[in-house]
Amino acid sequence: MDYSIKSEAPDKISDDCLIVGFYAKRKLGPTAAALDQLHDGLLTRLLKRDDIEGKTGDILLVNPLPHGKTERLLLVGLGKAEELNIAAYRKALAAAIKALKDNAVKSAASALHEAEVKGLALDGKIRQNIEVFENALYQFTQLKSDKTQIKPARLAKLNFLVDGDSHQAQAELGVKQGKAIADAMLQVRDLANLPGNICTPSYLAEQAVKLGKAHKKLKTKVLDESDLEELGMGSFLSVSKGSRQPARLIVLEYQGASAKTKPYVLVGKGLTFDAGGISLKPAANMDEMKYDMCGGASVIGALSVAAELALPINVVGLIPASENLPDGNANKPGDVVTSMAGLTIEILNTDAEGRLILCDTLTYAKRYDPVAVIDVATLTGACIVALGRHPSGLISNDDELSAQITDAGERAADRVWRLPLWDEYQEQLKSNFADIANIGGPDGGTITAGAFLSRFTKDYKWAHLDIAGTAWKTGADKGATGRPVPLLAQYLIDRAQ
Ligand code: BES
Ligand code: MN
Ligand code: ZN
Repeated sequence: MDYSIKSEAPDKISDDCLIVGFYAKRKLGPTAAALDQLHDGLLTRLLKRDDIEGKTGDILLVNPLPHGKTERLLLVGLGKAEELNIAAYRKALAAAIKALKDNAVKSAASALHEAEVKGLALDGKIRQNIEVFENALYQFTQLKSDKTQIKPARLAKLNFLVDGDSHQAQAELGVKQGKAIADAMLQVRDLANLPGNICTPSYLAEQAVKLGKAHKKLKTKVLDESDLEELGMGSFLSVSKGSRQPARLIVLEYQGASAKTKPYVLVGKGLTFDAGGISLKPAANMDEMKYDMCGGASVIGALSVAAELALPINVVGLIPASENLPDGNANKPGDVVTSMAGLTIEILNTDAEGRLILCDTLTYAKRYDPVAVIDVATLTGACIVALGRHPSGLISNDDELSAQITDAGERAADRVWRLPLWDEYQEQLKSNFADIANIGGPDGGTITAGAFLSRFTKDYKWAHLDIAGTAWKTGADKGATGRPVPLLAQYLIDRAQ
């Protein structure tokens, strides 16, 4: 979709539809009030007539609008003005885009960003408009054979009404960032929704190579199994040897600052299908394990945002990509493997494979002398039990990094919740036969997974995001969400300040 900024009076707008906000008790926002006056109180009368109070997401479509050039006016409820936070704002935006879709609107002009939203400046509000709209218009249709059944989105243009030149630059920043983040989210959703027979480790690597070719400051390298062998990544390779698809370590290097500047390193789990291996998963919903590469995809997405916005920092993305399948050559419970760091690992459950591919990648990350390392992984079902599907789980060895990520999540509407990383949890990882076991028993599964990773991240500031509950939706509207691209993008944008 095409987004631009316009400084025109609302009654001069010629788009199909004008979108304005109103609050609880039918209190009109500034643009709505001006239009109401122009129409001798028509809007107030209609809201009363239809008993529409102004709760968050309430909708009134005035069609046709008697005066002015626009035929339709969409009034969107924003709830109580003093309670308008990011979550409520997004709910109102979702209602607005649904109404635009239902009414086949092709071009619209919006004043919804004039509302005051707690914690968001003008650029942040415009960003949310674009993110919510683009994600609502997204459809995954590549694998449907009858293209005539696909209804393309009609909405092609959205103008943000901004008065005067003073807000122009801030509004433009919002459009630029919103487009970069939303585009990356849609790319991530496409990659993640692709099934395991199409999106293999090599396919994921090819997509990263394509991204690298599209940006001058972005370079992609792909390490194959012989490279991993040479590096001594025995833990990573133990997972991929049970699969016919060869493993890949995807390395993306974005250089937006001088070569000497220390980079931020993002590590993403790229397990393109997780059947559990010899510790095979039950059949129900196993298809969703095609989403086990969402951490990797979101790292590709974050690098794409950094490059698109030309952020003046250095960022490295590392994505270990593999399948986890049962096979005569697969890991067996009780097997002991040697990680790149030298630690021996007893594999008590072959389904705890994410940490096995991540630990070697986290060791590899050291060579970049990073400012901080953030890994992103659909690591544990236990995270959904602990936190539900609203926040991602956060585990970190550094309070400042943890606070920066938490804060970025709040502002990007892509939240995290921190879990402890106390020494006591390390006890659960004791092995009788190796240095460390790959599972910590039934208690605190998300934390013991984090505790396992922490054994490989002692040399730098590190945070781990468990996105098991946030990367995709289950049930009737099953599909990837594009999270945590907004969070990672916000974190990088903040570092670039
Ligand atoms: N990819 C899964 C985690 C997962 C499962 C995410 C379900 C979202 C939904 C991971 O590789 C896994 O299988 N973890 C095990 C760990 C256990 C064996 C300690 C799990 O969560 O059951
Ligand atoms: Mn698993
Ligand atoms: Zn997995």
